[in-house]
Amino acid sequence: MAKLGVNIDHVATLRQARGGIEPDPVTAAALCELAGASSIVAHLREDRRHVQDRDLTLLRATVQTRLDMEMAATEEMVAIATRLKPDICTLVPERRAELTTEGGLDVRGHLAPLAERIKRLRDAGIVVSLFVEPSPEQIKASRDAGADFVELHTGHYANARGAEQARHLHLLREAAVLADALGLGVNAGHGLNYTNIQAVTAIPQIVEYNIGHSIMARAMLLGLERAVRDMRALIPQDGATA
Ligand code: PXP
Repeated sequence: MAKLGVNIDHVATLRQARGGIEPDPVTAAALCELAGASSIVAHLREDRRHVQDRDLTLLRATVQTRLDMEMAATEEMVAIATRLKPDICTLVPERRAELTTEGGLDVRGHLAPLAERIKRLRDAGIVVSLFVEPSPEQIKASRDAGADFVELHTGHYANARGAEQARHLHLLREAAVLADALGLGVNAGHGLNYTNIQAVTAIPQIVEYNIGHSIMARAMLLGLERAVRDMRALIPQDGATA
């Protein structure tokens, strides 16, 4: 049975919009775990646009399932990770201007430096996963770089429609089979939502799905009515005009 890792970055994004203390992604992580998440994913970006160092420190102390630190393969992040010791590091590309993680890592093009950083993370006891496009070259390179897992980028599948979506699903399936045959664990994520996940779950090699945006978007809408009622209850009502 495959597992669900919940990405809490968007809770931090909402907090950062006001620069205050709520909503706290650490509290959100605890609720996600109580609801059945198998891991908590948080992306510490170089520009700290959402998740903060303080969040990772508290998550490391409180997460009871597994903490998956998403990060760029930079010296700064490797230093933080080897000190913090998340259970998993998922290495992603990071460009300052992008809204979210746009493409997979070019493992093949950066094999030697990536292999060196993967080794340092693994020597610290951290499981290393590489976020890659579902391409045979990148998957073989991930094995050569010494990764434990690949996380297949499902974003193109998620954005496509009809025959094009079926083509992307086929690529994901082939990539999962290849990664598994090479001895890599297989995760998947990005852009998965309540309507597109089912077809992907038919790929048996995928052991964990990492999902953030659609879960947080749904939480906001499903929780809105309750939140309005709770606030209204705090405002005195004066009879007929209430
Ligand atoms: N996996 C990786 C590597 C990501 O970068 C992201 C986005 O932060 C996700 C999964 C989750 O994507 P989404 O928020 O679209 O569910």
